[in-house]
Amino acid sequence: MLEKKWLLAFFVASLLIFPANALAQECIECHSTVTPGIVKQWLSGNMSKQYGCEICHGSAHSTADDWEEATSPSPETCKACHSKQYNQYADGKHYYAWIAMEAMPALQHIPSPQKSLEGFKGCSGCHRIGVIADEEKEGKYGASACDSCHTRHKFSKSEAEKPEACLPCHQGFDHPQYEMWSTSKHGVIYRTEGDTGRAPKCQTCHMPDGTHGVMTAWGFLALRVPEDDQKWWEDRVTILQALGVLDEKGEPTERFDVVKAGKVARLSEEEWQDERDKMIKRCSECHSENFVKEQLEAADQMIKEADAILADEIRTVKRLYDEGILEKPEEWDFAPDLLQFYAVNTSVEQELYLSFMEYRMRAFQGAFHINPDYSHWYGWAPLNSARAKINYEAGLMMAAHEEKTQQAEVGLQEEKSTPGFEVILAVCGIVAAVYLFRRK
Ligand code: HEC
Ligand code: HEC
Ligand code: HEC
Ligand code: HEC
Ligand code: HEC
Ligand code: HEC
Ligand code: HEC
Ligand code: HEC
Repeated sequence: MLEKKWLLAFFVASLLIFPANALAQECIECHSTVTPGIVKQWLSGNMSKQYGCEICHGSAHSTADDWEEATSPSPETCKACHSKQYNQYADGKHYYAWIAMEAMPALQHIPSPQKSLEGFKGCSGCHRIGVIADEEKEGKYGASACDSCHTRHKFSKSEAEKPEACLPCHQGFDHPQYEMWSTSKHGVIYRTEGDTGRAPKCQTCHMPDGTHGVMTAWGFLALRVPEDDQKWWEDRVTILQALGVLDEKGEPTERFDVVKAGKVARLSEEEWQDERDKMIKRCSECHSENFVKEQLEAADQMIKEADAILADEIRTVKRLYDEGILEKPEEWDFAPDLLQFYAVNTSVEQELYLSFMEYRMRAFQGAFHINPDYSHWYGWAPLNSARAKINYEAGLMMAAHEEKTQQAEVGLQEEKSTPGFEVILAVCGIVAAVYLFRRK
């Protein structure tokens, strides 16, 4: 009851202070009963001081029966008043999140609520931070993107400045940045001192000066094109081929176009170096530039080391396909295909999937986020275990295959060594000759 009184008082006060239009007041009045929580949150935010519900939901719905006429905002709606943030966002990686998700071949095995706006229960729940095509969002919730860090209906700046705002998505299996950061020295200072600015949080390094265009040098997949180091480049080509981005001859494929369109990798040295330089500048606000460079180069080195192992695993699995021990599923264009994720049938390929998505990621992501535990025990160590498992299993499969081939060959020889028609004919001939000779 108290709450309602408070709302009513605010409503009356707002009538006196801001001569907002009657429609906005109608929404608030009725929704104070229909969805009181939403009204309360909205009134606690700064935007409500100047605007009403209709800036995002339109004014087509205004009675209890026509609520289906209410529209849902998209980032374009916010752009009308926040073009600076929108344009930065459109230049960064978050904008491409939906496009990148939809390009994944593995999506065909994933249930609709996990990959569409129909409930956004999986991939789509996080990737809805990206811009979504109009036809996909028709009549569905979830296509508003900007509410990913400024949750509705408060739409607060200070909430989005907290590292916890990144937690719902940057956690877990293949990108545990929150866990890595929060248990690093940087994160522990934040945990012990609070948000004092002495140690960096996600936003310090990735959204300096409030810029909404997040982008890193290496990106999620830690791929860059080209590479001066010859051995490293050979390993990367193997990985790019298993991703289907390069074909057998090393030529770019259709998937390479997706990489380009979704800004998945930095495709020139300058582009990569530009992002790296920005990061060095951020770290150097607290550390010496030399210290920082050595830190980042050591993390780059971890990518190189992890690439060597992943490439080795890929080659082993590929040999199984090349020698006909594994059979390429009909609907795949090539094998092994890392982008099928866990929709693979053998334990060697399950290990390969974990190596690619979990262990390699942690080995380098942990290195960049100053977390030795993730980098070593959850990254490098299981990556090596996985290679041993793949080698062992592939060895068994090859041995079994060889044995089968040998048996087949022996079988063939045995078939050849059993007396054939000619031998029988010859024996008959001799017997007949002896018989004839005797009769004479
Ligand atoms: C007379 C009461 C009343 C008024 C006035 C009213 N609404 Fe509603 N509104 C409702 C009811 C009832 C629902 C359905 C709630 C539910 O499903 O639980 C609703 C639902 C909504 C929804 C959710 C739609 C959906 O698809 O889930 C939005 C958004 C909304 N109203 C916005 C507004 C805005 C903006 C205004 C003012 C322009 C407004 N409402 C005015 C009663 C009202
Ligand atoms: C019709 C114009 C308009 C639209 C549309 C609009 N905003 Fe705002 N917004 C404002 C104004 C004006 C302020 C400044 C309020 C203030 O500083 O007191 C603001 C402030 C904000 C803030 C800062 C709040 C704070 O804590 O200081 C955020 C975050 C925000 N808007 C997000 C959004 C998002 C997300 C959308 C789209 C879903 C959106 N806005 C749509 C006008 C708009
Ligand atoms: C918990 C939230 C979450 C879920 C669930 C999720 N993702 Fe992601 N995804 C992310 C985040 C965060 C990143 C960026 C990670 C990074 O850069 O380290 C990402 C990155 C990606 C990328 C790389 C984009 C690029 O340009 O580098 C692709 C592709 C992708 N996800 C597809 C999927 C698919 C397909 C699914 C479902 C099978 C899925 N994701 C499930 C949060 C999620
Ligand atoms: C700055 C933009 C903005 C304003 C202003 C705004 N909303 Fe919303 N509202 C959203 C967004 C974003 C969603 C999520 C839509 C989606 O899922 O696509 C939403 C969803 C809703 C929903 C349905 C989802 C739910 O959580 O139940 C209701 C009901 C609603 N708003 C009511 C209101 C009311 C009432 C007001 C005014 C007091 C209001 N909104 C003002 C942005 C806004
Ligand atoms: C001290 C600065 C710093 C902080 C704090 C920080 N990061 Fe990073 N982050 C980096 C660096 C450095 C890289 C690697 C950049 C490159 O590619 O050269 C990186 C990379 C990333 C990537 C790309 C994939 C990867 O992990 O390499 C994502 C996504 C990311 N960070 C998210 C976050 C999130 C979310 C937080 C907070 C939980 C966070 N970061 C905290 C410095 C930081
Ligand atoms: C990845 C999280 C994230 C997303 C997504 C996001 N924001 Fe923000 N937003 C922030 C952070 C962090 C700040 C505080 C920036 C600062 O330090 O000045 C902020 C600040 C703002 C402000 C207040 C600016 C000011 O200085 O008063 C507005 C307005 C805003 N964002 C609008 C948007 C709009 C519009 C979108 C969608 C295009 C959006 N945001 C998406 C994290 C986000
Ligand atoms: C709603 C989920 C969600 C939230 C919340 C979120 N992100 Fe992301 N983030 C993603 C997804 C998905 C991607 C991958 C998009 C792509 O690459 O196509 C991503 C990509 C990134 C990248 C780019 C990595 C690269 O490939 O270069 C950085 C950096 C990043 N996020 C930082 C942040 C920070 C900092 C916050 C909090 C202020 C945050 N994100 C909040 C989902 C989220
Ligand atoms: C806002 C200031 C700030 C920024 C920005 C910052 N750091 Fe730090 N960093 C600290 C503080 C404070 C410590 C704790 C000092 C200590 O370790 O005794 C620390 C510690 C470290 C450590 C030491 C960990 C250990 O075990 O001794 C490394 C490595 C490090 N930072 C690397 C980086 C890198 C790389 C960047 C940029 C990607 C960065 N820092 C950005 C403040 C910062």
